[in-house]
Amino acid sequence: MTLSTSSRQRFLDAARGLPVDRPPAWMMRQAGRYLPEYRKIREKLSFFELCENVDAAVEVSLQPFERFHPDGVILFSDILVPVRAMGAGVTIDDGGPKLAHPIRTAADVETLHGFDPEGETGYVMEILRTLRRSIGDSAALLGFSGAPWTLASYLIEGGGSKNFTNIKSMMSKDPHTLRGLLTKLSGMVSTYLAAQLDAGADVVQLFDTWAGELSPEDYREFALPYARDAIARVGRRGKPVIYFVNGVSGILDAAGETGADVLSIDWRCSLADARRRWPDRALQGNLDPALLYGRPESVREKVESMIAGTGGLGHIVNLGHGILPETPVESVLAFYEAVRRQP
Ligand code: CP3
Repeated sequence: MTLSTSSRQRFLDAARGLPVDRPPAWMMRQAGRYLPEYRKIREKLSFFELCENVDAAVEVSLQPFERFHPDGVILFSDILVPVRAMGAGVTIDDGGPKLAHPIRTAADVETLHGFDPEGETGYVMEILRTLRRSIGDSAALLGFSGAPWTLASYLIEGGGSKNFTNIKSMMSKDPHTLRGLLTKLSGMVSTYLAAQLDAGADVVQLFDTWAGELSPEDYREFALPYARDAIARVGRRGKPVIYFVNGVSGILDAAGETGADVLSIDWRCSLADARRRWPDRALQGNLDPALLYGRPESVREKVESMIAGTGGLGHIVNLGHGILPETPVESVLAFYEAVRRQP
């Protein structure tokens, strides 16, 4: 039997749990500040200028591909791009994302409008079309969106948050408004992801980064239904959906109910536990990104033991969350070397 004739095929086979010559690999946030060539472009363009400039965003998306040859290339953009298209005033600087006017009332929710992905975020689709032509079968192309709960947490908190007190108080004081916002976001996510698949993405990933902050009960009420509906409505024509939660252990039972084909697992949960709970799903992950600050030899060992946890089957090798800004490039090389030495 001939296995995985190209990186693109290897990625798609692994996402479906089919046998592969070796597991495919990529890294979340692989285009970012740890790369000097990325920092150079960012000296000239602000973060959202970069997201909206098709040539520059294509170049940045391909930087990690040219250096490390991962099996997946993710579109360079941000989960807050479509939220801006809905009318939210968002900026991103060294302190992370900030909203000029956080969403706190039903009237605030009304100010967010629907948008046509090919119209107002046509540059995202053009980046995908250009990448699709440029990479051919040499990598799978990933599109992405934030999940409703995670997007709502930025909109309501007004930026990053430690305790999520605004959105969590809304859960009890004004659940109707919160549900209205989550429903609106869920509709946006499905049309946005469908447009990305039409523009050439092979796979889409839904980032529910902050859903691990919820109790299992609240997750089932305020995150799961909206992520599940968004996935159900994408109309994915056989293309896989990956669902990522940072801190998935406590809600692992429910996370698979989103209907995602691939569950992206952080390092606090073992891949073996995730496999026992969801034996019919492919898994993605799950190296602790901070371990890349260690010695390259130990990175290699950790990658080997991570792959042993799944036997390399139905496994997309990745980090358990995005790569950190000060990560040494030699550790990233060690990570990919170890994967390529499999089985
Ligand atoms: O993976 C990739 O290479 C694609 C690019 C990508 C970015 N953001 C670029 C980015 C993706 C997939 C994202 C998703 C994203 N954005 C998430 C979900 C994934 C996760 O890591 O949890 C979240 C929560 C955001 C919101 C966001 N954008 C934050 C919290 C920050 C600041 C983080 C930081 O490292 O400072 C951003 C900015 C951002 N998005 C950067 C990059 C490369 C760094 C900004 C810069 O260039 O100055």
